[in-house]
Amino acid sequence: MTAPRINPSILSADFVNLESELARIASADLVHVDVMDNHFVPNLTFGPPVVERIQQVSPIPLDVHLMITGADAHAPAYAELGAYSVTFHAEAAEDPVALARRLREMGARAGIALKPGTSVARYLELLPEFDQVLVMTVEPGFGGQSFMPETMPKLRELRAARDRLGLDVWLQVDGGVSAETIGVAAEAGADTFVAGSAVYGGVPEDRIAELRAAARDH
Ligand code: DX5
Ligand code: ZN
Repeated sequence: MTAPRINPSILSADFVNLESELARIASADLVHVDVMDNHFVPNLTFGPPVVERIQQVSPIPLDVHLMITGADAHAPAYAELGAYSVTFHAEAAEDPVALARRLREMGARAGIALKPGTSVARYLELLPEFDQVLVMTVEPGFGGQSFMPETMPKLRELRAARDRLGLDVWLQVDGGVSAETIGVAAEAGADTFVAGSAVYGGVPEDRIAELRAAARDH
């Protein structure tokens, strides 16, 4: 497999010290930034002004995960401020393909996210339109929840479709990813791993190294 990508989620970081919290994850591939609107999910984080400041100070490119309604209207702002990838939820976009094309035109990688209950079937043939697919392994909204292994069949379908089509689409998991669960997701086909509490719940650089090793060893 390709080398696993480990994207720590700053949802589990200390929000009043974000710049120094970023410095604690220097070996990360990308930094995962969770935007929540208290509408698509029952939790609220921050929006473009805060993400723009994170973008300005972060030595690591941003992997923005939008848990917001009205993605068609609001997602482009995150590409505009310089996010490396912008992932919106399939359940929150009127026209996911048009939105992904717009994000790509703006220079961002375009990602589509699926809640645990959302079927992947209709997106398999649309895979060329996206740079990454995020399979949520918890109900979105909060860190520290338990990994849902019942979402793994979706990853297997995505992995098979990706390989059949010969695409370089990244397959990402988010929620409950730890040294104990990461191997299950890697085995099912994931190559990009978001981890919040598992990284910031210990010494972040040690935790990142443990996750990377566990993903490789599955
Ligand atoms: C949850 C967020 C996740 C969250 C994961 O809705 O999308 O990115 O930070 O946290 P852990 O790794 O603690 O499950
Ligand atoms: Zn997330």
